[in-house]
Amino acid sequence: MEAYLFDWLNLFFRWFHVIAGVAWIGASFYFIWLDLSLREPPEHKKEQGIKGDLWAIHGGGFYEVAKYQAGPPQMPSTLHWFKWEAYTTWLTGFALLSVMYYWGAEQYLIDPQKVALGQWQAIGISLAFLAGGFAVYEALLKSPLRQMPKLFAALLYSALVLAAWALDQIFSDRAAYLHVGALIGSIMAGNVLFGIMPAQRELVRAVTAGETPQAHFAELAKLRSTHNNYFTLPLIFIMISNHYPMTYGHEQGWLVLAFIGAISAFARHYFNLKHQDNHQPWILVAAALALFALIGWMLPKPAQPLPESSERVSQQQAMALVTAHCSACHAAKPSHAAFNAPPGGIELEQWSQVTANAARIIPALRTGYMPLGNASGMTEEQRAQLIQALR
Ligand code: HEC
Repeated sequence: MEAYLFDWLNLFFRWFHVIAGVAWIGASFYFIWLDLSLREPPEHKKEQGIKGDLWAIHGGGFYEVAKYQAGPPQMPSTLHWFKWEAYTTWLTGFALLSVMYYWGAEQYLIDPQKVALGQWQAIGISLAFLAGGFAVYEALLKSPLRQMPKLFAALLYSALVLAAWALDQIFSDRAAYLHVGALIGSIMAGNVLFGIMPAQRELVRAVTAGETPQAHFAELAKLRSTHNNYFTLPLIFIMISNHYPMTYGHEQGWLVLAFIGAISAFARHYFNLKHQDNHQPWILVAAALALFALIGWMLPKPAQPLPESSERVSQQQAMALVTAHCSACHAAKPSHAAFNAPPGGIELEQWSQVTANAARIIPALRTGYMPLGNASGMTEEQRAQLIQALR
């Protein structure tokens, strides 16, 4: 019953989180494109205080968008704000984190081979990491470093790589990735709540009062939204990475993340320039070459010879390994309390089912991804024996 409820909550929050995230990032991409695509308006619009002009066609109609230098002569009766997309994405993301990694800490958060944490210890470390990481970002942003955006970006990147490495020492590989993503997502939502929204409120206040808005609000908001812009692609990668154990399950998973983060943020740069009619296709070419280099570097090593002591196991012995280490979860009716249905749809109760899934089982064993949480304490030698029996 508990496992069944877990699955539904997991599904509900994941679904909601994806929908909210699509709305947030969609709106964000749209406004970035819009802002960078505005062009000088004709004279009669300039006279009304309009500084940027744009025409578009979509869904069977023409749209005329105008951006004011300061503000409109009068506040319109309805002004649309975009903030709940960000807040709901964060709230549903946190709910999903709590269900999956806190409630399901033993399966997803803790890796007893790294640090044998108790559930509450692991949750405490996770919350402290997120709160601490967020506080470091906010402190950096309020320091004089923000005057040097390139240095700031380099520092921020290094801090995130360091965080990825540290998390990789403590949590399961998958949880380590997810926590980098959760921190980035929290920073992004915080940028909306603590920077972009106050700047917009100040703008509305100043325009209504007929004053010039205080510049520092807008400057800081601009820096925050630039960070959010470059964060989006790496963030989305992290959120889908859980389907690809070859990334987070890599021996140097944190380094893989560091490379993919840098490559995808760099690729984003191409689009930012392109929206301003500045075509720099070499950026995409360089990003693609870097990705190919990464793919080459990550190429699985040829199978290691088995340790001296081990002998080739028989099919019965191999099946006994599967029964001992896999079948509690991977069964038509799992006996493991946390599961209600065979995870990933994979049932491993008969040898024919094991061989049929060999192509997925071998990488899952080699990367240490399975058995999930390794509560049964499968050894390296047993992994190697099972892999050998499957070849
Ligand atoms: C504690 C429960 C548990 C145990 C024990 C376990 N698994 Fe899994 N397994 C899971 C879950 C949960 C998933 C789905 C993970 C996901 O959705 O990303 C999974 C997914 C998989 C996958 C699919 C991976 C992919 O390609 O996405 C394979 C293959 C697999 N397990 C094999 C094994 C093998 C082999 C063992 C034993 C050595 C094992 N599992 C032990 C819970 C378990």
